[in-house]
Amino acid sequence: MTNFLAIVLCAVFYGSLVSPLPVSDVSSAGTPTSSTSDAASPSPTVPLASDDPNFPLWNDTTTIDPQPERGTLGASILGPQNVEIDRQNPDILAPPTTDQGTVGNAKWPFSLSKIQLNTGGWVRQQNVQQMPIATGVNMRLEAGAIRELHWHQTAEWAYVLSVRDLEGSTQITAVDQLGRNYVATVNTGDLWYFPPGIPHSLQATNDSADGTEFLLIFPDGSFNDDDTLLLTDWLAHTPKEVIAKNFQDDISDWNDIPGEQLYIFPGVPPPDNQQPPQSPAGEIPEPFSFPFSKVEPTQYTGGTVKIADSTTFNVSTEIAVAEITVEPGAMREMHWHPNQNEWGFFLEGNARVTLFAGTAIAQTFDYQPGDISYIPTGFGHYVENTGNTTLRFLEIFNSAIFQDVSLAQWLALTPPALVKQHLQLSDSTIAKFNRSKGVIVGGLGVNQPGV
Ligand SMILES: *[C@@H]1O[C@H](CO)[C@@H](O)[C@H](O)[C@H]1NC(C)=O
Ligand SMILES: *[C@@H]1O[C@H](CO)[C@@H](O)[C@H](O)[C@H]1NC(C)=O
Ligand SMILES: *[C@@H]1O[C@H](CO)[C@@H](O)[C@H](O)[C@H]1NC(C)=O
Ligand SMILES: *[C@@H]1O[C@H](CO)[C@@H](O)[C@H](O)[C@H]1NC(C)=O
Ligand SMILES: *[C@@H]1O[C@H](CO)[C@@H](O)[C@H](O)[C@H]1NC(C)=O
Repeated sequence: MTNFLAIVLCAVFYGSLVSPLPVSDVSSAGTPTSSTSDAASPSPTVPLASDDPNFPLWNDTTTIDPQPERGTLGASILGPQNVEIDRQNPDILAPPTTDQGTVGNAKWPFSLSKIQLNTGGWVRQQNVQQMPIATGVNMRLEAGAIRELHWHQTAEWAYVLSVRDLEGSTQITAVDQLGRNYVATVNTGDLWYFPPGIPHSLQATNDSADGTEFLLIFPDGSFNDDDTLLLTDWLAHTPKEVIAKNFQDDISDWNDIPGEQLYIFPGVPPPDNQQPPQSPAGEIPEPFSFPFSKVEPTQYTGGTVKIADSTTFNVSTEIAVAEITVEPGAMREMHWHPNQNEWGFFLEGNARVTLFAGTAIAQTFDYQPGDISYIPTGFGHYVENTGNTTLRFLEIFNSAIFQDVSLAQWLALTPPALVKQHLQLSDSTIAKFNRSKGVIVGGLGVNQPGV
């Protein structure tokens, strides 16, 4: 009860920090400095927006004491403070003055997910208990270790991670409902996908002494990786006489089966070129793996994009992904996704994202490698590289096809006079809007002039 009250009180105080900038301040700060002779008169109906650039106030390279202070707003924390978390979240502790209200939680670090340790590896997950939308699972298998033969009700999509020089690979096996089988070795940066209910296994090869690590996505946010259906678990809970009858075998042949599930266990590394037993029904025709790492990225002014969805990875009808790099000072442009929530995963670098929810509600979050983001369908957002190294992240959607709407393209392709009457921009500014999506827009040479 005491804790709950403290949280509520904090939230009220926090609200009073983020919401000031009374209208009178906004209008006095908002003298248009860039107006040109051909600009229309300012709108008479509402005050102008503030000209404050609202940069993040600190980052990895600064050593300042993080405090809830921005300009004349706020005051330092006198009570206890988790400084490490505050350092990572400048836009939560000292939000841009453009933030207002709360959009719900849009950040979950895998560091806060309870981890399950097994002999041969570990697993941790984020699902609706932490944030809405998809379930994300991060799993590590030591060389040769096996995530045992199993199946589940939802589809499974995976991205093999290549972080900290880990260049391992994962061997997958599957058999479909028609008795067609599949075996493939999936390298770092590549994908796999199993349709719902298709039995499969995952095993680290010996390609790296460290084994393998990967990200699994399940399109259903209520999915729990503890609730999968495992070979050993089923047999441990089936009368032995039924097992013997099923396999038309002597019951004593089944003396050594495990009495409970294995889940992850050490194993003998498979050869990379392993072939499955020959099936009378043949092999699965549409591959369950996809060499995403071999896809040539599209270059934009500020970075690169690669997309894998059902148009190229045919079997992946429930998950679409974009892998994006953003150079220092550049930004994934302001956009939204018209028909799907976004589940994001940060691989390298530092980012800030503001979610715009409509009704004057906007909230900014900062992300580090290993963090998950969540952006509801239709919410406007950008992804800005706030670090001094390349930012790399995944945008993942519960969808057959990747789709986005670009703010700049929308305005470029709308009658200019109409745009001008909304935003009081000069004709020359409007004429420069890109009619093609910029996607990753280049930095303007400076990342942050300081405040
Ligand atoms: C980049 O940031 C790291 C810390 O995140 C710092 O050690 C390094 O000096 C920075 N490099 C430059 C060129 O600013
Ligand atoms: C795995 O690789 C190591 C060298 O990295 C080697 O010593 C070992 O014999 C290999 N094991 C198998 C089963 O291939
Ligand atoms: C994926 O689908 C397209 C269009 O139907 C087809 O041309 C292509 O061969 C398929 N790719 C694979 C690997 O099955
Ligand atoms: C417009 O966007 C395209 C990418 O779609 C990019 O190649 C081009 O450089 C952009 N033009 C300008 C002026 O930024
Ligand atoms: C980090 O923050 C400092 C202080 O605000 C700023 O001068 C610097 O440009 C920032 N660095 C990056 C990479 O944004």
